[in-house]
Amino acid sequence: MTKKDRKQVTNSGSRTNPGVRVAVAFALLAGAAAASAATLSIADAVSVRKANFKEIGGAFKTVNDELKTGAPDINTVGPAAKDIARRAALVKDHFPAGSGPESGLKTKAKAEIWSNPTEFGKYTAALARSAKALDTAARSGDLAAMTKARDALGKTCKGCHSQFREK
Ligand code: HEC
Repeated sequence: MTKKDRKQVTNSGSRTNPGVRVAVAFALLAGAAAASAATLSIADAVSVRKANFKEIGGAFKTVNDELKTGAPDINTVGPAAKDIARRAALVKDHFPAGSGPESGLKTKAKAEIWSNPTEFGKYTAALARSAKALDTAARSGDLAAMTKARDALGKTCKGCHSQFREK
């Protein structure tokens, strides 16, 4: 975990995406027009969100592979669950207006994310909550608790994907 990552943990309530801030600062430094700073920040937001989901996907696979063995290594499940919880809490800030299909960028985020923010917000909240529950279960080391929390988290992933992500 880098120093910056640790800072993000304590700042997870913040709505400011540090990646976007860096991109904007860089564009200003380069003397770019405000318009290109805005373009940069959207492109940056899309790549930050895809990278974050990719890491969540990898860590969730690690958890699933361990649980499948029937005798999960807690030293593997624990850090993976913790990473998912940290990253899940960031997801709600990864969908700024303009970062959908209309951006022209390569993204599977559906326009419904922005046309139905109430429903989408339920999923981002459920993601943060169920990922935290998996982290708690992993700390307990109880296999039944971990399995139950994993199932609930998996349902949240699937539910959001089927409604808000292109196939
Ligand atoms: C709140 C809705 C939501 C939830 C919950 C959610 N996802 Fe996603 N996920 C998305 C959207 C939208 C995309 C498409 C992002 C894009 O292409 O810009 C995505 C993309 C992904 C990707 C592809 C990333 C890439 O490389 O482009 C993976 C992997 C992924 N999600 C895994 C998961 C897993 C695992 C979970 C549950 C632990 C999960 N997601 C929960 C909405 C969600």
